[in-house]
Amino acid sequence: MESTPGLSGFRRLGGELHCGEVPLEELARRYGTPLYVYDLALVGENVRRFRTAFSGVPFTLAYSVKANGNLSVLNRLASLGTGADIVSAGELHRCLQAGIRPRDIYFAGVGKRPEEVERALEAGIGAFHVESAHELEVLAKVAEEKDLRAPLAIRVNPDIHSPTFHEYTRTGHAASKFGVPASEALELYRRANEHEHLAVRGVDVHIGSQIMDPDPYMEAWRTVRGLLRLLRDEGMKLEYVDLGGGFGVGYRGEPGLDLDFLAEALVPQVQAEGLELILEPGRSVVGEAGVLVVQVLHVKRSGGTVFVVADGGMTELLRPSHYGGFHAVEPVVKRDHRPVEPVDLVGPICESGDFLARDRELAVPEPGELLAVRTAGAYGFSMASNYNARRRPAEVVVDGTRVHLARPRESYSDLVRGETLPDW
Ligand SMILES: Cc1ncc(COP(=O)(O)O)c(C=O)c1O
Repeated sequence: MESTPGLSGFRRLGGELHCGEVPLEELARRYGTPLYVYDLALVGENVRRFRTAFSGVPFTLAYSVKANGNLSVLNRLASLGTGADIVSAGELHRCLQAGIRPRDIYFAGVGKRPEEVERALEAGIGAFHVESAHELEVLAKVAEEKDLRAPLAIRVNPDIHSPTFHEYTRTGHAASKFGVPASEALELYRRANEHEHLAVRGVDVHIGSQIMDPDPYMEAWRTVRGLLRLLRDEGMKLEYVDLGGGFGVGYRGEPGLDLDFLAEALVPQVQAEGLELILEPGRSVVGEAGVLVVQVLHVKRSGGTVFVVADGGMTELLRPSHYGGFHAVEPVVKRDHRPVEPVDLVGPICESGDFLARDRELAVPEPGELLAVRTAGAYGFSMASNYNARRRPAEVVVDGTRVHLARPRESYSDLVRGETLPDW
């Protein structure tokens, strides 16, 4: 049997699913389950896809760290020379540890604390992506106190209703908390341009996540271009346009967003404006490059449903229960003579909303068998939690035949680290 048709990476050889040259079963035996496995070669391939598509303009890939902040993944990206899109000082710390150049780091997010701004400013990041008038004031104040100049772009909200699979993954409409309406952005740019401790560098926009259609990006670009021209008319010098991330991947094996098609429309226009293009992909760099391997604990039938109870669930991979995210599921080792039935793959967590897949036609596995939850490299471990006092899983990276335990499974002492009892 092939692995899920259309999904790249993780080939099936002799009935066994492999990451690179390594059988997943061997990794599960060595490191236990639930287990995240990432294919670094595929991460590199995805970076190259972006670079090839957008080679017609000066281009920076600012990888969105929130998708997967594992240090080994970030370090591979650093060695490929990518930058980063971050949303916290914690993500900044990870990037610096992994060797990403500070000047290629862009700091977005609606709620940056002054101390986070200070850290990023001292690190010498590429720019702050400012999301409100008050944030601009805070940035100016911190920069003044440090006697530094804070580089920035305003994150513009283009009021686009981007078609994503769930309302939680839409960010570009006027009623979302993100960004500043284009009509207000002009005034913020004026203020920033006049301030001696602020340096305007570009314009930023991010319209949502898991977008399959290039059109909303072009719509966002047109809004940005209109603003750019107004800013240039006022004598402001802009270096870059950042069109954010959100490029969709095919969770069901269908093709993801067509980057070449988008680039064909976008590149000549960005080129004509003489700008550098920054994109902030997360999911499309690491999504297909990761799987979550879980072990089946029990199979039970109740109320007409077949429940396959695995040792991993919403604490390891929140996407299905949080916003209905779909992940293909397949056996790690293909076995014959299993009846195919609709099943619910659920975890051991004490929540009815704890599931990895619902109503899925699956060869009903037996306890002890391993299942691979595909396309789990993005927003998998990075959204994992300790709910139910569960230890977060191990993460392994693979490159061809090479294997590295990038993060061990948490220990029981990790679960209580730093906690103390009152002395009264
Ligand atoms: C500002 C910003 N940039 C980039 C991304 C990355 O999105 P994706 O992983 O879908 O490419 C996000 C995700 O929410 C984001 O908020």
